[in-house]
This record gives sequence, C-alpha cells and structure tokens, in this order.
Amino acid sequence: MRKPFLAGNWKMNKTVDEAVELAKELVENVGDVKDRDILICPTSLCLTEVAKIVKGTSVKLGAQNMSFEDSGAFTGEVSADMLLAAGCDYVIIGHSERREYYHEDNEAVNKKAKKALEKGINAIVCVGEKLEEREAGKAESVVEDHLKGAFSGISGEDAVKITIAYEPVWAIGTGKTATPEDADNMHAFIRKTLADIYDEAAAEKMRIQYGGSVKDSNVDELMARENIDGALVGGASLKADSFARIVKFK
Ligand code: PGA
Repeated sequence: MRKPFLAGNWKMNKTVDEAVELAKELVENVGDVKDRDILICPTSLCLTEVAKIVKGTSVKLGAQNMSFEDSGAFTGEVSADMLLAAGCDYVIIGHSERREYYHEDNEAVNKKAKKALEKGINAIVCVGEKLEEREAGKAESVVEDHLKGAFSGISGEDAVKITIAYEPVWAIGTGKTATPEDADNMHAFIRKTLADIYDEAAAEKMRIQYGGSVKDSNVDELMARENIDGALVGGASLKADSFARIVKFK
C-alpha cells in the first residue's frame, strides 16, 4: 500500500513571519495526522524558521528547488547540504515553472535527482505536458521523455525513493483540473513507463502525486483513483483551512 502524500508548494509567497503563521495554523490542524504524509515547501528564506514550528509534528519540510552543485561560485543557488541543515526532508525538482522560466532541462533535473539521492534528501520530480502538447496528442510522449530524462542512470533501488508529481502545465494555477479519469490514465501510463524502465515491483512502490488546481472541493474524487497517491498543491496550500481539508481528504 502506498501511503497518501499531500504536499503544499508555496511558490514565491509569504514573508518569514507569514510563513511561520501559516505553518503554526497547519500544525494545529494536521500536526498529529499519522496515516498520510504531509509536506510544506516554503521559500528557502523561510525554511529555518518554519523548521522550528514543524519539528516533532507530522508536517515535513521541503524546498522548492536545489542546485546540483555542492558549493562554490553559483550565485543565487542553494545546495542540498544547506537544505538538510535547515531541516528539509524533501526537495521539489523540475517544477514546470523552473523548466519554463529558468530553462531547466531534463539533464539538469536528472543531475538534481542524483544529487538528492547522493545527499539523502527525498526528491519529488515533476513531469507534465503543456496545453499545445496535449492538443497535438503528445501528452504521453512528453511525460515519457521527462521520466526517461529524470531517471537516466538511476538504479531501481534508488528510483523507489523518488516521488513523481504529474502536473499538466495547463492545469497549474488556471482553475482547470484534469478530470480524475484523465489524471488517473496518465498516472497509469507513468506507472507502466516506470515498470518498463525498472520493473513492476518498483513501479508499484512509487508514489505519483497529481498537481494542477487541486482544491478542497476536488481532492476527494482525485484521491479516490487507483493510481493517484497524493497531491502537489499550489494556490490552495496557502490557506491553512483549505490545505488542512486537502490533507484530510475522504
Ligand atoms: P496550483 O499549483 O495548485 O496552484 O495549480 C500546483 C503546482 O504548481 O504545484
């Protein structure tokens, strides 16, 4: 059985004080939930303070990005060691906004995934097609390319430590969610692709989150699907009550 995994990606929102406030409210609401994994990903600047709030609770801490380098002259970057020292258990890798606005390609995503494995920080690797790619009938081939790129040179033993987030770009922040059926079909395709790269046993173990306009009003029907193991939530994770409801999906 795959444990449900609900993650909030706060993106470039919240000052340190606001982040601490939101984390406190969340801990009050879901800090003792045990049957599902809960993650929040504030900006790097907020990690140290938020870590103090979530410590010892069920809410885990993650970063939104990470360098594939260890240290040195890489202005503006943050390393895996820094994230671990700040209290992070997880890091989001290859989010579509990183791919689109900061030109991260499959090779960079792959290097980051390998660095995360080497350092022992849990990676959530994002994959997903753009609207024009879906309309051109290329959704599956794009997702397959993202997966093969991200997992290139990674062993099956390591691959199972990685979570995948399927986030169709056209559904992110737009209010348009993939139907639960469409999302589940793509998740099944992702699992089949993982089984082809590794084997059935590895593919069955791996968690696949859905992301893209997940809200308290649609989480239940998404989570009811066989291959949807969790959610990566943007907008609706910025309010404690809506994210708490998402965590407590029925
Ligand atoms: P959204 O973002 O929930 O605001 O659509 C999801 C994401 O980009 O992770």
